[in-house]
Amino acid sequence: MGINIAIDGPAGAGKSTIAKKVAKELSFIYVDTGAMYRAMALYLLEKNIQGDEAIATACHDADISIRYENGEQQVILNGENVTAFLRREEVGNMASVSSANPEVRAHLLKLQRTLAKENDVVMDGRDIGTTILPDAEVKIFLTASPETRANRRYLELTEKGETCDMNEILKTIIERDVRDMNRAVSPLKQAEDAVLVDSSDMGIDEVVEKILSVYREKV
Ligand code: C5P
Repeated sequence: MGINIAIDGPAGAGKSTIAKKVAKELSFIYVDTGAMYRAMALYLLEKNIQGDEAIATACHDADISIRYENGEQQVILNGENVTAFLRREEVGNMASVSSANPEVRAHLLKLQRTLAKENDVVMDGRDIGTTILPDAEVKIFLTASPETRANRRYLELTEKGETCDMNEILKTIIERDVRDMNRAVSPLKQAEDAVLVDSSDMGIDEVVEKILSVYREKV
């Protein structure tokens, strides 16, 4: 049995950056479950599959697995490494829609639980502490204000040389929060036994240190 650290929270709270650093400090593997939902979304977009029923059937044809290259998670979709295509906005937005589908969630749950059983993991997502790993040794709910998250996303995109509109980003973030928090299956919510960390006014290292201190206290 591996030791499990679950980090949940809304889009743009800094989960992946923080989770990666925590994993490195502890020599655990980092599992990005959002990337699995994104790979599923990419599959559905490529096949032009829409509507709940069609998604529920088609999702079982998406064989998704992960492997690590130089410590970085790579997502394999039906034999192809699709990691480079997952961060696009349209893929993220589709992931937020298709992840509400119970069949999609059931399909990915098995992979996530197996990884956590066989390895020491820091796993991030929306329902890790509540549904996927209810017995995780450490649970963190990492959040930040929508404005802070939109600002971080704006900086990330402009650094990459992409033109973007701040109000548009904020609107998308709020829409995604509403979808993630209000879906019937595994909505985004803080597990009762999770420690709440609001990163709005915290630096990355400060958040990492906070999580490591929770880990040291509990394990
Ligand atoms: O975290 P990331 O932005 O990569 O996730 C993309 C989408 O996948 C989220 O908006 C959310 O709807 C979905 N997701 C989820 N459960 C997870 C991880 C991601 O529903 N454990």
